[in-house]
Parts: sequence; structure tokens; C-alpha cells
Amino acid sequence: MSGSLNLAELARRNALADLAGGADKLERQRAEGRMTARERLEALLDPGSFVELDRFVTHRCHHFGMEHHHLPGDGFITGHGKIEGRLVYVFSQDFTVWGGSLSAANAKKICKIMDLAVKVGAPVIGLNDSGGARIQEGVESLGGYADIFLRNTLCSGVIPQLSVIMGPCAGGAVYSPAITDFIFMVRRSSYMFVTGPDVIKAVTHEQVSKEELGGASTHNEISGVAHFAAQSDAHCLALVRELYSFLPSNNREDPPRRPCQDPADRSCERLDTLVPENPKHPYDIKTIIEEVVDEHDFFEVQADYARNLVVGFGRITGRPVGIVANQPAFLAGCLDRMASVKGARFVRFCDAFNIPLIVFEDVPGFLPGVDQEHGGIIKEGAKLLYAFCEATVPKITVITRKAYGGAYDVMNSKHIRADVNLAFPTAEIAVMGPEGAVNIIFRKELAAAVEPEKLRQELIAEYRQRFASPFIAAELGFIDGIILPRDTRRHLVQALDMLRDKVDHNPKKKHGNIPL
Ligand code: HXC
Repeated sequence: MSGSLNLAELARRNALADLAGGADKLERQRAEGRMTARERLEALLDPGSFVELDRFVTHRCHHFGMEHHHLPGDGFITGHGKIEGRLVYVFSQDFTVWGGSLSAANAKKICKIMDLAVKVGAPVIGLNDSGGARIQEGVESLGGYADIFLRNTLCSGVIPQLSVIMGPCAGGAVYSPAITDFIFMVRRSSYMFVTGPDVIKAVTHEQVSKEELGGASTHNEISGVAHFAAQSDAHCLALVRELYSFLPSNNREDPPRRPCQDPADRSCERLDTLVPENPKHPYDIKTIIEEVVDEHDFFEVQADYARNLVVGFGRITGRPVGIVANQPAFLAGCLDRMASVKGARFVRFCDAFNIPLIVFEDVPGFLPGVDQEHGGIIKEGAKLLYAFCEATVPKITVITRKAYGGAYDVMNSKHIRADVNLAFPTAEIAVMGPEGAVNIIFRKELAAAVEPEKLRQELIAEYRQRFASPFIAAELGFIDGIILPRDTRRHLVQALDMLRDKVDHNPKKKHGNIPL
């Protein structure tokens, strides 16, 4: 008898958990073109692989009438599932239940899966759709978020942590993602801010829309907080699956290798004529990247932010690699503050997770300007330098054209432990461009010349011939080889094969002090 009562009670509680904030609210969410919290998990994970934990957990709040309202699960769905057969831990916040806000009880649910994820060595993927700490719970919910922040930090560099922003997210629901490795957003339906437009209006009297303040475009193009902007929930979750295909499950594993049909020695003839003869003419560095990676498949990260530096993942003979490339088609490929930070973060992620780094270099230097200097280009540029210096994964550089000044050092030069440094015959490796160099070192001669412009052009030609080439660097061994562009893929395959068992260490320390 009690067994059948329990069965009925189980069915009742299960139905309540599925109903979440109620049929009306779930329908409203669908009507807005957004999936529900459970539908998102279905779209993210391999069919039938989701195993829910803590489905019957409820909150313990006794304030503001909350004691009369309990829902099994408390608005958070947590558990584990598979992506392409590989284990992942997941949580999905349900905005229909008190705005997806975090109670102390569901903070414990998240901590439980994070603790399991670290022990097992599998990533955590969070689907965030939450107004942050549950206001009715006060310090208990704040404490709950702090418990999560601590775990986010301790898991950093141990397991990949991916954050998907799928609705209006505030407070802890943005700070926890900010500590994780990658943030995905959905255009026109997801937002991130520490405090929303209403609070801003009250405090600073500024009027701003949710979209302008913290929409996907804002965080992908201006703040650099987010890494991907998707067109819909479904598109966003497909992007998460794709990103995960490049990543190992934890920092003790190598990234997953795929069978590859693309020939290792495929010639890339198109590259022979890609780099323009005139050093001032731009070209698209992504053409080179897409030409050399397997099946021309390049998965770009932060495509809309600091477009003068391109970063992302590809595969070479089935092995994932991280690619960092100056983009001559945007700001001439200069390194500025935004590009430096973007690059540094990407390099450190790859290094933490055993993903070899390939650099394509065409950089006229750091961007000059008062704005850059006052904004701390010294400190920001140093981040990229630091990141390349400390990285111990296989590191390969291909200089396609300009490698000028400090940027030559920074962009994975031999001197900072790159393993294989190659150059196209079009490479120019010098302290600065010929024009700038001549103006400085021959200032007196030019001032005294009868025909200064004629002399300037002669000196520029001489400088270019002597220094603006890869040969001096190759004579010194700073460049290991000068290659035909068409053979780039073959050389990368050989270098990665040679470096497959590379082991390198940094000195024992608690941690370094990257210039933050
Ligand atoms: C409890 C919340 C809530 C919260 C929203 N709701 N946020 N309930 N705690 N934090 C409830 C609302 O009361 C409402 O309930 C329902 O969720 C939907 O919210 P709306 O405001 O109607 O939705 P929308 O207009 O889309 O606005 C979403 C929002 C806004 C931008 C997220 O709700 C908002 O600004 N919320 C507060 C954000 C915030 O300040 N959070 C605390 C952060 S402190 P009903 O019953 O009407 O449906 C924090 C500490 C972390 O997180 C530490 C950081 C370092």
C-alpha cells in the first residue's frame, strides 16, 4: 500500500519538476523563440544521455512568503550527459522559476556536479538564464555563489568550463561565467550585466537598454567578455558541441584526435601569390589558416573582437591546434590593447589544456598612440608576451611578412621558447619598417642633404635589401627554415609530428604574477 502511495507521490513530484514555473511561463518562453531549460539540455547532449541529479531538492528559505512555495529542483536542472560520446557535467537554469535565481540549495547542486567533474576529469557546461543570487535568501544565496566562484577558480586549468548565456543574466550569473574559459551568448535574447538598466538609472541616471548595456553584440565586439554570438538557442548549443570537439576532457589528457582524410602533404599553391609584394597592401590571414588546416575547417574564437588578431581552433592531420594570427586586413595587423589581451587569454587556455600553438605572423608592431599608452598598452602587451613565454606546449611560428620590433619578440619568437620558427621568403624581420628606421638613423644626413627625398628613397631601398628579409634571422638560427608558402601544411605536419612527445617545464613556483 505505502509502495503505491510512494509511486503516486513520485509521479506527482516528477510532474511538478517538469512543470517548473508553470505551463504559461514555459509557453511564453517558447513564444519568445527561446527553448526551455530542459529542451536546451536535450539539444546540447547526445540523445538519451542526460542523467539528472538532485531533481527533488527544494529551497530552505522562510522569508517573504517563500516558505509556502517549493518546487522540486528549485529551478536548476543539474546532472551529466555525453557530447559525441564524451562525458560532460551540466546545469541549466530555469528562468520560469523565480527568474532562475540561485538559492543556497541549488548552489549546493552546482557544487556537487563541479566536485564530481574535478574528481572524474570532465568539463562543466553551464546554461545560464538567471537574475543572480536569490534576493529573498540574502547572504545564504550570496554564500552559495561564493562557493561556486571558489570551485570555478580551483577548476580553472584542470577541466574546461564553458558558460552559455541564454537569457538576462546578472550578478553571480555573470561573475561565475567570467571565471570560466569560454562564454557563448545568443543574439537578441541573452544579456549580461553586473547591475541591470533599472539600477543604473537609479544610481547614475543613465538610460540604457538591456541590448546596449549587455547584449551579445556589446560583449562580443566592445567589452570582449564573450567569445561567441549565436543566432538562436539551437545554434548556440551546436557551437558548444563544436568547441568541445577540439578540447580534452581535462588537463591530463591530450585533445581528441579525429580520423583525417585530408592529405598531410597537400600543397597549398594559392598561398604562393597571396602575400602582396607591396608591404603596405593588406590580405586576409584567414585565407592562410583555412588553406592549411584539415578540410579548411577553422573554428574562430572572438571573431568580432580585436579583429587585428585572429584566434581559434583547427586540426592538422586530425590533431587539434590553437591558432594565433595577426590580421593585416584590419589595423594592418598591429597589436593593440584589445588584441594583446585576447591573444594572451587564448594562448594560456591552449597551454593549460595541452593544445599545440601555431602562430602566423605579419605584424608591423604595437599600435602607437596616446590612447594606447594611457590605456596601458605596456601592461596589456606584456600579457601576450608573458603568455607565450610561459607556454610549454609545442609552439610553431610561421612569419608570412612583417615581424617588426617588440612584436617580433612577442609573437612566439625562438627566443621565448618557440620550437619551430619558419618564414616565407616574403618575411621582413627588423626592428622597424624601412621608412621609420631610415628617418631615425639617418636624421642628420637627411637634414643636410641637397635632395633629401632622393637620399631617403636610396637609403630605404638599401635598408630593405639588407634587413627586411628573413635571411639574417635564418643565418643566426632564429628562423629554422625559409619555406615555400605552398608547402606550409606539410611543414606544420612535420613539426607537429616531431614535437608530439615534447616535455618542457617552468620553474617550480606557487604561481606566476602575470601583469593583470
Ligand atoms: C529572486 C528574481 C531575481 C532574483 C529576477 N527574479 N531576479 N527573484 N531573485 N535575483 C524574478 C522576478 O521577481 C520575476 O518574478 C521573475 O524573476 C522575472 O524577472 P523580471 O524582472 O520580470 O524579468 P526581466 O524583466 O526579463 O528582467 C530580468 C533581470 C531582472 C534583468 C534579471 O529581473 C533583474 O534585474 N533582476 C535582479 C538582478 C540582480 O540584481 N540580482 C542580484 C545580484 S547579486 P515574477 O514572480 O514576477 O515572475 C548577486 C551576487 C553575486 O548575484 C556576487 C557577485 C560578485
